[in-house]
Amino acid sequence: MRSEAFQSWAHAHQVRIESALERILPESSAMPARLHEAMRYAVLAGGKRVRPLLALASGEIVDADAEKVMLAACSVELIHAYSLVHDDLPAMDDDVLRRGKPTCHVEYDEATALLVGDSLQSLAFETLSSPGLSGKRQVEMVRLLAKASGSRGMAGGQAMDLENVGKSLDLPELESMHIRKTGELIRASILLGAHCGEMEEEGLAKLDHYAKSIGLAFQVIDDVLDAESSTATLGKTAGKDQKDGKPTYVSLMGVRQAKRMADDLYDSAISALGCFGGKAERLRQMADFVVKRQF
Ligand code: IPE
Ligand code: IPE
Ligand code: MG
Ligand code: MG
Ligand code: MG
Repeated sequence: MRSEAFQSWAHAHQVRIESALERILPESSAMPARLHEAMRYAVLAGGKRVRPLLALASGEIVDADAEKVMLAACSVELIHAYSLVHDDLPAMDDDVLRRGKPTCHVEYDEATALLVGDSLQSLAFETLSSPGLSGKRQVEMVRLLAKASGSRGMAGGQAMDLENVGKSLDLPELESMHIRKTGELIRASILLGAHCGEMEEEGLAKLDHYAKSIGLAFQVIDDVLDAESSTATLGKTAGKDQKDGKPTYVSLMGVRQAKRMADDLYDSAISALGCFGGKAERLRQMADFVVKRQF
């Protein structure tokens, strides 16, 4: 059972994240108003905010400056929101429901949804490279997010996902696709938080082990929830992976084994945090949340 203390921490920080995103996004009255309104729709329409919460939790280990970590955290959430808008397009997963509301291209139109994605990606890098984050690691942080988002990261994973519809992948292939499409951005969130407090190499290596395990576990559980949960609970169409012939952990090994895999990844993530002692408590709780979440 997750502690009440964790739940109130997560809730309070979700509220802080939302208000930071609100400030970063252009006003919907600013020209071009329809694009800006659609960007705000895509970002501010709910979501668990797992990536920014992970960035904040990892920043806590090194007592990173709260405002700096918040900017880094928001930059990842902007990339994530862009990836969802594009993922839902007819040319990709063709989904009509996201975070309990019509997807961006349904609420607006496809051209607007494409431009929302483009603009959110630019805004993410504008945020990460802003003066509020200036410091000797800033360029490295920008490079980290760029790599995690591009063809060797999220976008590449999405390409593999689409190429493999109707095919069955073996475990190493599936793992490599999931690491790219979801794992890399989650890993970036965690490392960015630590970079904000200038964590040393040795700590970063341990944290990277946690980050890789949790990043993969996140998509394994997403596959499980798609198979087991309901559209009402998820706020997105359940059962879509099987219907579309997507290769997933569930299609490869079934729900039980997929859950076991996520549990093993959780154990591996937790073991990597030993050296941080009590400072990593939030990251432990976040790992628990990632693996046991209901949506
Ligand atoms: C969904 O991500 C897409 C994946 C990468 C699996 P989330 O489950 O984090 O979606 P939101 O942000 O909470 O809506
Ligand atoms: C999406 O994976 C991953 C990215 C958006 C990069 P899914 O296609 O499984 O995500 P959902 O299930 O639509 O949220
Ligand atoms: Mg997809
Ligand atoms: Mg999808
Ligand atoms: Mg999914």
